[in-house]
Amino acid sequence: MENSNIERAGRLILASKYVVSLTGAGISVESGIRPFRGPGGLWTEYGEPPMDGYQRFLADPKASWERRVKREGYTGELYKALEGAKPNPAHYALTELEELRILRYLITQNIDNLHRAAGSKDIAEIHGNFSKLRCIQCDSRYEPEEISLETLPPYCPRCGGIIKSDTVMFGEPIPADVLKICQDETGKCDCMLLVGTSAFVYPAAGFPWEVREKEGVLIEVDPYETELTPFCNISLRGKAGEVLPRLVECIKANLQEPESPL
Ligand code: APR
Repeated sequence: MENSNIERAGRLILASKYVVSLTGAGISVESGIRPFRGPGGLWTEYGEPPMDGYQRFLADPKASWERRVKREGYTGELYKALEGAKPNPAHYALTELEELRILRYLITQNIDNLHRAAGSKDIAEIHGNFSKLRCIQCDSRYEPEEISLETLPPYCPRCGGIIKSDTVMFGEPIPADVLKICQDETGKCDCMLLVGTSAFVYPAAGFPWEVREKEGVLIEVDPYETELTPFCNISLRGKAGEVLPRLVECIKANLQEPESPL
């Protein structure tokens, strides 16, 4: 990809006041986790899961937990990839932008914990985190070792509610605390850096439109065109692990020499 595109994106980011990044499965492809849609997508192979996954969980949480423990269907492959994955240069690039106070917040649709593992602090995991459990009544989050799975389903030690994986199932409402943070950060955002998302699943897919509606800037990093491409100020066509480190270098170079031609 030409340097001029990276430089234009760097200029747009440095000219912005409140940059927020929205990331999707694509940023973790180079960490060995398949995307959901498009070439090599999990849903492309297995088909999209039923949209009422959560209602099925509520109808029989014991059976749902037993399936989870047995890792039936695509979950087996997905969890194996999640457990073995390490952050890639794209995750570290966003952490560096956060440390430079260029990136003010990170909203991820990924459940893979890789942004946290790369050191991101100002982050909201809108679809939850596969390495955590959550009470569906009080939204308390737990580390797996805090909850015994001797009897299924497990119950919340705080309120007695049913515990499930922290990951948000299809048909499940986004936990109110996380959703509020995402909406507040999107409200402050004048430049959204979209990395590896098909922007297909709401409410996350609505955030870029909110930014655009208030004439904010949209920058996309994706090897392929997406639904949002026609509405982006600039699309950096390439893999996140290759593009983001170059973007950070370009921004840092400007930070050091404000007189540079950028
Ligand atoms: N770097 C950057 N982007 C990539 C890369 C890469 N190396 N490889 C693939 N992509 C892009 C694809 O072109 C696609 O546009 O990443 C995007 C992944 O899109 P999806 O698989 O639809 O993932 P995502 O947008 O995160 O899906 C949203 O859907 O199934 C649910 O809950 C799941 O959080 C997920 C949500």
